[in-house]
Amino acid sequence: MSPAVDPQRVWRELDTLGGMSDAEAPAVTRVVFTETDLRARRFFKQCCEAAGLAVREDAVGNTFARWAGTSSDLPAVATGSHCDAIPNAGRFDGTVGVFGGLEAVRALQHVGYRPRRSIDVVMFTSEEPTRFGLGCLGSRLLSGALAPEAAEQLRDAERRTLEDVRRGAGFEGRLAGVAVPPATYASFIELHIEQGPLLERAGDHIGIVTAIAAPASLRVFIEGQGGHAGAVLMPDRHDAFLGAAEIALAVEHAARGTASPHTVGTVGVCDVFPGAINSIPSRVRIEIDVRDIDQNRRDSVLQAIAAACEDVAARRKLTIRTDRINADAPATCAPEIVDAVSAACARRGLKSQRMISRAYHDSLFMARVAPTGMIFIPCRGGVSHRPDEYASPEAIGRGVEVLADVLATLAE
Ligand code: HGY
Ligand code: MN
Ligand code: MN
Repeated sequence: MSPAVDPQRVWRELDTLGGMSDAEAPAVTRVVFTETDLRARRFFKQCCEAAGLAVREDAVGNTFARWAGTSSDLPAVATGSHCDAIPNAGRFDGTVGVFGGLEAVRALQHVGYRPRRSIDVVMFTSEEPTRFGLGCLGSRLLSGALAPEAAEQLRDAERRTLEDVRRGAGFEGRLAGVAVPPATYASFIELHIEQGPLLERAGDHIGIVTAIAAPASLRVFIEGQGGHAGAVLMPDRHDAFLGAAEIALAVEHAARGTASPHTVGTVGVCDVFPGAINSIPSRVRIEIDVRDIDQNRRDSVLQAIAAACEDVAARRKLTIRTDRINADAPATCAPEIVDAVSAACARRGLKSQRMISRAYHDSLFMARVAPTGMIFIPCRGGVSHRPDEYASPEAIGRGVEVLADVLATLAE
C-alpha cells in the first residue's frame, strides 16, 4: 500500500495560508490570537472537515482533527506542528507539519487504509514566543509542562493576560482541562523543515531527528542613571546600554567558551529607554536565548551570564535584575520511531541522515507524554525565520510520504 500523496495540494494550501499574514509578502507574520491567526485556524479546520475529520479545540486553542480508528478506545497516534509565525518570517516553519500531517492522512484515506488507532492531526497554539514570551504554550499546557496558573499570569506587550486574550479570541473553558490524561497518545511524530543547512549540503532528502536541544531564555533589566548626552562627562556616566552591551558580549563569550559546537547564545531583543539620540540610556531590557543538546553545558552558560551581570552591575554601578523565562530539558526521540522513520526512508530509497534539532518544537514537550519522533526536510540554504525561507513541493512531498508510512506503522 503506497499512500497517494498530492504535493501540489499541500503546496496550494501552504500558498493560501502564506497569504494570511500581517507582513508584506513574501514575509509572513502570524501572531497567536490575532485576526490573521484566527483566519489561519479557520482555514485549517475547513480543510480538515473537508477530509472528513472530526475537529475539536481545547481551551488554549490547540486544534485536533481526528481520523477515528477501528479500535478508537486505544491510545491514539498524533502528528502536527504550528501555524503561528514570528514577525517577518517565512511560509514553511511549522505549517509543513500541520498541512503535511493532513495530507498524510488524506493520502492514506485515498488508498483505503483504515487505522486501528485513531490519528490526530494537531495544530498547537503559540509555538513561537512572540506574543507571550514563552514558546510552545499549547504543547506545554497539553503535556503538563506548564501549570495553568502560571500560564494565566502571562501577559503580552500591551499587558493583556493570556486569559483575556484567549477568551477574546473565543477560546473558553479552563486551562486546567488542556493537559491530556496519561496514555492519551501512543506516539507523536512531527514533520518540520530542518531550519539548518545540513540536509541540503549532504544532498539528503530526510533528516531523522534523534534529539531536540534544550532551550532556555532570560529577560534582563538593566537600570542606570541616564542624563544629558552632552553634559554628563564619560567618567560620571552609568550607561544602561553599555551594561547591556557587555552582557551581550558575555553571552557570546560563554557560548563560544564551552568548546562545543552545540552551544548557542543569542540576544535577540534589546529595548533602550528613553531611546533618544541625545539621552544616555537609563533603562534597557534584553532577552537572551541559550541552547545546547547537553543541559549541563547549557546551564554552565546561564551561570556565566549571571556572573557577568553581577560583575557589570558592580563595575558600572548599575542595577541589574534577571528573570528566567524558561530552562527546559532536552528531549530524546523514541528509538522505535526513529527506526520507523529510517525504515520508511529505506523502503522509498530516500537518502537520510540522523541528526539533532537545534530549534525547539512542540515535539520537545510531546516527548513528555508519548514516544516522539521528528522528520526533517531540507529548506533552501538552511534559511528559516526569514521571508526567503523555502521548501520545494518535491521535498514536502517526500516528507509527507515518509510521514504517511510512519503513521500507518504507528497506528497499527
Ligand atoms: O525558536 C525556535 O527554535 C522555534 O522556531 N520556535
Ligand atoms: Mn520557528
Ligand atoms: Mn517551528
